[in-house]
Amino acid sequence: MARFPKPAEGSWTEHYPGLGTGPVSYEDSVSPELYELEREAIFRRAWLNVGRVEQLPREGSYFTRELAVLRTSLLVVRDRSGAVRAFHNVCRHRGNKLVWDDIPRQETSGTARQFACKYHGWRYGLDGVCAFVQQEGEFFDLDRSSLGLVPVHCDAWAGFIFVNLGASPSWPLREFLGPMVTALEGYPFDRMTERYGFRAEVHANWKLLMDALQEQYHAPIVHRSQRPEGFEDPMQAGGFEALHYQLDGPHRMMCTPGIRPWQLPADQIKPSEHLLRSGLFGPWDTPAVHPATIVPGTNPGGFESVGISLFEIWPNFGVQFWERGWYHTYHHWPTSHEAHVFEVDLYFPPATTARERLAHQMTVATFKEFALQDDNLIMSVQATLGSAGLTSFPLGDQEVLCRHLHKTVASWIEDYRRD
Ligand code: FES
Ligand SMILES: [Fe+2]
Repeated sequence: MARFPKPAEGSWTEHYPGLGTGPVSYEDSVSPELYELEREAIFRRAWLNVGRVEQLPREGSYFTRELAVLRTSLLVVRDRSGAVRAFHNVCRHRGNKLVWDDIPRQETSGTARQFACKYHGWRYGLDGVCAFVQQEGEFFDLDRSSLGLVPVHCDAWAGFIFVNLGASPSWPLREFLGPMVTALEGYPFDRMTERYGFRAEVHANWKLLMDALQEQYHAPIVHRSQRPEGFEDPMQAGGFEALHYQLDGPHRMMCTPGIRPWQLPADQIKPSEHLLRSGLFGPWDTPAVHPATIVPGTNPGGFESVGISLFEIWPNFGVQFWERGWYHTYHHWPTSHEAHVFEVDLYFPPATTARERLAHQMTVATFKEFALQDDNLIMSVQATLGSAGLTSFPLGDQEVLCRHLHKTVASWIEDYRRD
């Protein structure tokens, strides 16, 4: 794929004329009415990633997902035939939440042969069929065969499990993902099974945090404290510039050079990073198989030296590849117009030595620190956004992906209203 000739042929933003170059409305991040529309126009119509197939290793493996944005809980399960299915996690008797542990609103996972409701004991098979009704003879014209769990459209791509809550999805999953995302096929996601996850309840609109992750214009300012005293990144001396930006339908991506700490003078590296040969940019040593280099789709601009590639898969799922051979995902699950749950999962090839394991854990610890800096910052954006009567803002060329996100939100809402 051709590299966009930047800047000879103009800016990244102007490369996509549909985006415009004027101020962008952030009404979508403060308006309860627009949030209600996003629920139906976006989250009920798009395919949503809810996990990976490795979370369902065997027949009967299951997990639940709380999707407040769609006012439901989902049960995702591997059935006896090995197929992954998704259902509303709701008992057909009187609507009790079917699968949960000690706290009804918390997610859970495990392995089961069938699911029994905690209220009156109705039971369901792994295929969702209603298998048992307590005192069935006392009901009136009860047809158990019509009382299975309510299914949800479910499909997998590259081991990522997606659901679609619409009555009939407008696109099959692969078509929805489009060529830029499906070009990531072949990355050995299935072998990156050492996983570390964390989540945060963030008091800010879901898109505000996505904005902070899909531009690095802020990085030299916000993340300054993660570098040693006196450290100046030569690549960011004049501000930040990405190597490549690309849009494909509602999806977007960018490649950035990244920092290679192992190439820096020792006095510019934190002693802990030096000791563990690891830090924010991941373990310094690559695993035996170097996954990032074997899939050209992670580097659609075709650059020699890409440190990081971030793919923002519409609407709320980010996948970021690191040159040293690991990746992580982001999920942004709205809970209101001004709050969301932010999830990060970091994936490495399983450590083969204690040193590798420690390097992974150092990356996770450093990554959390960086993510919390962004979380904290965007809560300050939410605190005042809209309060001075300002609803639109100028975005620069390094913020092209933010412009695209807000434009895409507006256009999906527009489509929904038209339909
Ligand atoms: S609500 Fe589930 S058995 Fe009654
Ligand atoms: Fe950041």
